Amino acid sequence: MQCTRKVHEDLIWVGADDRRLACFEGVYGVPDGVSYNSYLLLDEKTVLFDTVDKAVYEVFFESVAYALGGRKLDYLVISHMEPDHAATIESLILRYPEVRIVCNAKVKTMLAQFFLTDYSDRIDLVKEGDVFSSGTHEFSFIMAPMVHWPEVMMTYDRTSKTLFTADAFGTFGALNGRLFNDETDFFVENLGEARRYYTNIVGKYGPQVQAVLKKAAALEISTVCPLHGFVWRSHFGDFLEKYLQWSSYTPEEQSVMLAYASVYGHTENAANILAAKLVERGVRVRMYDTSVTPASYIVSDAFRCSHLVFAATTYNAGVFVTMENLLHDLASHNLQKRKVAVIENGSWAPTSGKVMRELIAPMKNIEFLGDNITLKSALAKGQDAELAALADVIAAEINPKPEAAEPEVPSGVVLDVDNGVFHKFSYGVEVLTTRVDGKDYGCIINTAGQVAAGDPKKITISCIKKNNTCDMVAKAGKFNISIVTEDAPYALFQRFGFQSGRDVDKFADVAWTERMANGIRYIPEYTNAVLSCEVIGTEDLDTQVLYIANVVEAKVLSKAPSCTYAYYHAHIKPKKNPAPEQKECWVCRVCGYVYEGAEMPDDFVCPLCKHGKEEFEHVVPVVKQKQKGYVCTICGHFEPCDGELPADYTCPLCKHGREDFEPAEQ
Ligand code: FEO
Repeated sequence: MQCTRKVHEDLIWVGADDRRLACFEGVYGVPDGVSYNSYLLLDEKTVLFDTVDKAVYEVFFESVAYALGGRKLDYLVISHMEPDHAATIESLILRYPEVRIVCNAKVKTMLAQFFLTDYSDRIDLVKEGDVFSSGTHEFSFIMAPMVHWPEVMMTYDRTSKTLFTADAFGTFGALNGRLFNDETDFFVENLGEARRYYTNIVGKYGPQVQAVLKKAAALEISTVCPLHGFVWRSHFGDFLEKYLQWSSYTPEEQSVMLAYASVYGHTENAANILAAKLVERGVRVRMYDTSVTPASYIVSDAFRCSHLVFAATTYNAGVFVTMENLLHDLASHNLQKRKVAVIENGSWAPTSGKVMRELIAPMKNIEFLGDNITLKSALAKGQDAELAALADVIAAEINPKPEAAEPEVPSGVVLDVDNGVFHKFSYGVEVLTTRVDGKDYGCIINTAGQVAAGDPKKITISCIKKNNTCDMVAKAGKFNISIVTEDAPYALFQRFGFQSGRDVDKFADVAWTERMANGIRYIPEYTNAVLSCEVIGTEDLDTQVLYIANVVEAKVLSKAPSCTYAYYHAHIKPKKNPAPEQKECWVCRVCGYVYEGAEMPDDFVCPLCKHGKEEFEHVVPVVKQKQKGYVCTICGHFEPCDGELPADYTCPLCKHGREDFEPAEQ
């Protein structure tokens, strides 16, 4: 009886499972069986995509007949002539004599080779890029030579975005009722058999697989229909990723595939010791006895692992036969890009290492890890050190020691901060003004800057909280910034910087009265520009408040260069004059004449008032102990202090914090 499943509404799977096959292609054991997939499209014309192996012909023909529902079969598209898909073509044609064959020229040649009947008059030849229509479905063809035979092609259904991929993306294993990849836990249950299928069936043809993947990459694909295994309708990218790795001979994992051939167990013993040492070093090992495990499994893991170790005894002056067969198999599957170590054994003339190297060396991009390790019959006393050294080399490559981690500083921890850094910024100097309840306020700041160029433009200013103007800006919600020029006198800084609006009216005796449209004063002298701003946001910065503001009016006042903070310190702030040195002297009480010196002669007469020494007072300067403290680099205020200024200290004159003070003595 038929056994079908729908792939799409009009596309029916008519394939079958084969669980009685011992060896696929007569060589690859398939203990979990294999499926032969065939698909029937029910369009205006009916189209069958490939047939099946003769082992399952009975259910196949029942399924095709059932799915056709009495319609005739119009077309057979042949993607691949290998008999696991083509053996029933002749029977199909006998059952559906009107069927036409859509195939490429190489398929046509092979058809004639496999079957004695001449099918030429029913063949519609297609080639790369040709388009074929079954009514509502339109197909194009992608030649995929050597994936897995030279005649292989893929067919792309442009209408349903379905790609019929021939052998590509197949897997060993019967479907067991599941048809779609999402009906199984593919990457847990089936990936191993998919890998074994790929590496053994098409592993040799990596470049050809890469070429066809490149062509297919241009297609929008919703469904992938291979000739073996699951139909992919989701997460195909994950499987494609594996194909990209396998076909480029890129190891899937950094691990060791250790294969050994041992007659009496001594080579096996060395292999076991090496495996243990590798595992102790954190290396994953996949280990096989070549006399027990069929080569297809070992080939599969050789494609999977980055490092390969082969250990074998000498046999007939060569290498043990199962190892020799394995190495031939790996070479014929084009394995490359691996790191390889060799362990040989021989009781009187060890040659297996040399032979193994000769078999491995022609593979592309193989790097041998050191010299062969040679056992004479068995591992000698102390020779496990050689295995330990090999394990060290492999482990160092697979699990390289991480670079010494940079010491991590938890966020929030403030390390050494040199206050001099902040004097390297090229701050400007501005007068910030505002107005509250009819009273004008202002202070010097050096923190104004544009922060956004869109309309309205935005600036930020930061004000010391202890400054009265800071509070007034918060109340007013608006302010002006007058940009100070280099010709500004120190008096301007004293007026707005070294006194508080709480104590004095800073505008009481100024000659100018100019205001901007917002009604707030600005400084028309010793400035080159003024901006009127409206506060749109604030941020509390502990000692300061950051105001974010829109610029609502601005004008240039002069071409005079702006005064920078550095310029103020270098050229405007008065330099401190050293106190005049006091000397020991004698001062005339009558006229004030000063005789300098420690000793006055007894007969000295004042040259001004003519009084004698008795009228002179001996003045000995008091040696004043210098006082330690800090001087404000902004306004010059000296704060006596024998230790550190308190963290929250602010200058009583200009309100700057302790970061603007430097140690001083006076
Ligand atoms: Fe499934 Fe290449 O045959």
